[in-house]
Amino acid sequence: MNLLNGNEVSKKIKLEIAERVKLLKAQGKKTPHLAAILVGADGASMTYVAAKEKDCQEVGFDSTVLRFDASITEEQLLEEVIKINNNPEIDGLIVQLPLPKHINEKKVTETISYKKDVDGFHPMNVGLMFKGLRTFLPATPFGIIKLLEHYEIETSGKHCVVIGRSDIVGKPMFALMLHKNCTVTVVHSKTKDVSAFTKQADIVIAALGIPGFLKAEMVKEGAVVIDVGITRVDDATAKSGYRLKGDVDFDSVAPKSSWITPVPGGVGPMTRVGLLLNTLEAMELYK
Ligand code: GUN
Repeated sequence: MNLLNGNEVSKKIKLEIAERVKLLKAQGKKTPHLAAILVGADGASMTYVAAKEKDCQEVGFDSTVLRFDASITEEQLLEEVIKINNNPEIDGLIVQLPLPKHINEKKVTETISYKKDVDGFHPMNVGLMFKGLRTFLPATPFGIIKLLEHYEIETSGKHCVVIGRSDIVGKPMFALMLHKNCTVTVVHSKTKDVSAFTKQADIVIAALGIPGFLKAEMVKEGAVVIDVGITRVDDATAKSGYRLKGDVDFDSVAPKSSWITPVPGGVGPMTRVGLLLNTLEAMELYK
């Protein structure tokens, strides 16, 4: 068993991004600028946005966080998005999800200019991605591809089973692994016998959000196992009162796998790097 070390790989990519930013600055070009909108005070969302701000600082990007009370109306929020769309200083915009129930997430996502949609959630960018054309790739699938590439994991002709069909991970992962010449199967909550598929997989990508779901008896000897899950489970011994648990039962699956991502320190840091790469890409594509 070998670890796919997202902490290490993300550090290396961040150094490369920082070099590119220095070069842009030396050439008199604009500093990449990422903006995030945070609505309300959801604990996980606040943590993610703070992490994104820190990442920007580390690589030399400018960053702006706009915070709004959960009572903001949909109309007001859409106005804020449009203001950023029209602000030439800002290259990328993310609106942290989830949004309060009275706001239509789809409407907000579709109001972000596709040229600044560094989450890759806009239908225009989803379409470009599915066609294999240059665009922003959703950060988690993008990060996973970068991780596989870093470790030179063979994908061509391999059977990849993706567990989960979310717009953010499962569906884009399907497209990207297909582009990497995998035979791809997507299994989900209505699949009759998930195990029958995962047992055949050369590469398993677990993105369903059920901690410890993938057990040793569900994977084949030598499989590559990617764990996207980051569920917070109570842990009285942790300072925060919780710890992160993946969708893979690491202790039982790891000895059977050829490569596996830990949680934390696997996919999470790679997702963060995906967003930074997209922000650079926004400058290259649209400036
Ligand atoms: N909430 C959970 N994951 C994400 C993400 O990738 N982007 C945004 N905007 N919100 C999220």
